[in-house]
Amino acid sequence: MSICRSEGHRLDYELVRSFWEEAAHEAESASYMAHEQGLPRGCVEHRFALERAVVDRWFAGLGPTASVLDVGCGAGAWTELFAQRYGRVVGVDASAGMLAAARRRLAGQGNVELVRGDALTVVLNGEFQGVLLGGLLMYLDRADAVALLVRLGQLAPRGRIILRESGIRSGVEVQTGTYQVVYRSLQEYEAMAAEAALRVVAVERNRGYAHMEVTVALVNLARRLPPFARSDAAAVGGPLWRFLRATAPVSLELVPRAIEAVGLDWPHLTNHFLLLEAGP
Ligand SMILES: C[S@@+](CC[C@H](N)C(=O)[O-])C[C@H]1O[C@@H](n2cnc3c(N)ncnc32)[C@H](O)[C@@H]1O
Repeated sequence: MSICRSEGHRLDYELVRSFWEEAAHEAESASYMAHEQGLPRGCVEHRFALERAVVDRWFAGLGPTASVLDVGCGAGAWTELFAQRYGRVVGVDASAGMLAAARRRLAGQGNVELVRGDALTVVLNGEFQGVLLGGLLMYLDRADAVALLVRLGQLAPRGRIILRESGIRSGVEVQTGTYQVVYRSLQEYEAMAAEAALRVVAVERNRGYAHMEVTVALVNLARRLPPFARSDAAAVGGPLWRFLRATAPVSLELVPRAIEAVGLDWPHLTNHFLLLEAGP
């Protein structure tokens, strides 16, 4: 793997697709990129619960007949939540394997359409009042990411678009190799939304993601120490997560914020929610 610090390096979309097809055998945790870290289910559930609080608040105005689009729906965790609440839910994903996991999860939900295809080109009908775009723009080159935002503005001209994206504190970092991804700063995402003629109505730091990243960073650190060097990630991740959960106000909130406040880039990855709207 090498890292390029400009968007001049284009992503290899075939490698992106094959990464997700392979990850699909662990689709539930792969949706949250937790499948390679040995993190227990509780850690992913904790992240989802904190994220859900943000999505609930930002979609609070959507009524039971609303149409909601889940772009890059992965294993369908959000699609399922929306299906319980809204009249029509469409989930789109490029990976056959991830979509198969979503189909298993959503079997019998009559108000859900699951569509396989590229978010940029897949045919989608009707207008949406809510859109969730969770963890997808980082797999698109900048021009394609802006084009997708433009498209979402057209699909939800009077709706609310929630963007949840991983990134870094400043600049851009393109990872090449088998896992192709672009990490951008929050400021970069705000600029891209403006280019797509979308207004940034609100921004919120993703605490659930931050908690998971602290845990991931500590698992990786611990496994470099001699007593844990031979342990697999799960043997370290389970007990570590239980400790962090029990001491969360200090270990997952206070300490990471203090580290950030003194200007240290740890953990390296961040994540934010942006609430976007089209129109004036
Ligand atoms: C990190 S997962 C996020 C899953 C889901 N949004 C969630 O939050 O649980 C990224 C998903 O985006 C999908 N994806 C990547 N590029 C895509 C594209 N161009 N069009 C549609 N889906 C894409 C992948 O197959 C994968 O399922």
